[in-house]
Amino acid sequence: MKRIGIVTSGGDAPGMNAAIRAVVRLAHSRHLEVLGFERGWEGLLTNTFKPLGPRSVSGIINQGGTMLFTSRCPEFNSKEGVLKAAETLRMNDVHGLVVIGGNGSFNGALDLSKESDAAIVGIPATIDNDVYGTDETIGFDTAVNTAVSEIDKIRDTAISHERVFIIEVMGRTRGFLALTVGLTVGAEIILVPEVKFETRDLIKNIDDARQRGKKSSIIVAAEGVGETRVIAKEIEEKTLSEVRLSVLGYSQRGGAPTARSRYLACMFGDKAVDLILNRERNKIVRLVGHQITALDLEESAKSIKPLDLRLLELAKELAI
Ligand code: F6P
Repeated sequence: MKRIGIVTSGGDAPGMNAAIRAVVRLAHSRHLEVLGFERGWEGLLTNTFKPLGPRSVSGIINQGGTMLFTSRCPEFNSKEGVLKAAETLRMNDVHGLVVIGGNGSFNGALDLSKESDAAIVGIPATIDNDVYGTDETIGFDTAVNTAVSEIDKIRDTAISHERVFIIEVMGRTRGFLALTVGLTVGAEIILVPEVKFETRDLIKNIDDARQRGKKSSIIVAAEGVGETRVIAKEIEEKTLSEVRLSVLGYSQRGGAPTARSRYLACMFGDKAVDLILNRERNKIVRLVGHQITALDLEESAKSIKPLDLRLLELAKELAI
């Protein structure tokens, strides 16, 4: 095998650049050429790529975003799109493809693996941390730290004004980010899409906390739990508290990756290149405990990563 491709797909995540750097440099030192396909799957549909060497990836280890650009590409969801991408790989003599992205990207990679002879290897990178089979994804730690430092600031106002704050973090379908952020800022309440709730229970919870002497509360809510503005209004109407909503938004997706996200990028990049060199096809790299290992792409793409609900209970117990 002489030539591999690399692509970043789906939502960007801090540390994607560090992963590109790791794959390109390790591939180079192990005698592989690398083509960087641009704008996610779109680059494979339009045959848009640039050759990457060790100097092409200088100075990006500390940069958020992705130098290869990314996109969500609906055309790739069709059989025709997948066949076109497989043909691009064949035409360019690309025998391995490293896909850096999250669950959606791995489902796309799985479709492609069924139509292409190239060895596909996924590197989990998403702030959602929702990839089955790995304890952690590249970018998750950075997003957690970004949200935590913002919420620490917001708590100053919550305490000074004796207010309730709802802070919305990212996570349309999964609550890994909300749960970890909520636990580590000491949130009084954490709302995740995986667990149904009634606003009246939140109100009771806030009233009870007030009885225990708490004059302010922080509610961390994943964006997927519903209309946080409506929830905030209802809480304000039914309690005697002033309630404010703060939506953290896209600052969680950007910024310099933390050391942890960069470390994962280096380790995942190393394992991904090794898998391709050993002709192991259609895998993802993953972290389990302290070990970097591989898992079948299909198993990861088709399974749902469970949220550790005991952490919700722990957060509740810690918020007395
Ligand atoms: O997958 C990462 C993520 O930021 C989710 O948390 C969020 O729901 C989604 O992407 C937003 O995607 P987009 O930027 O494409 O609207």
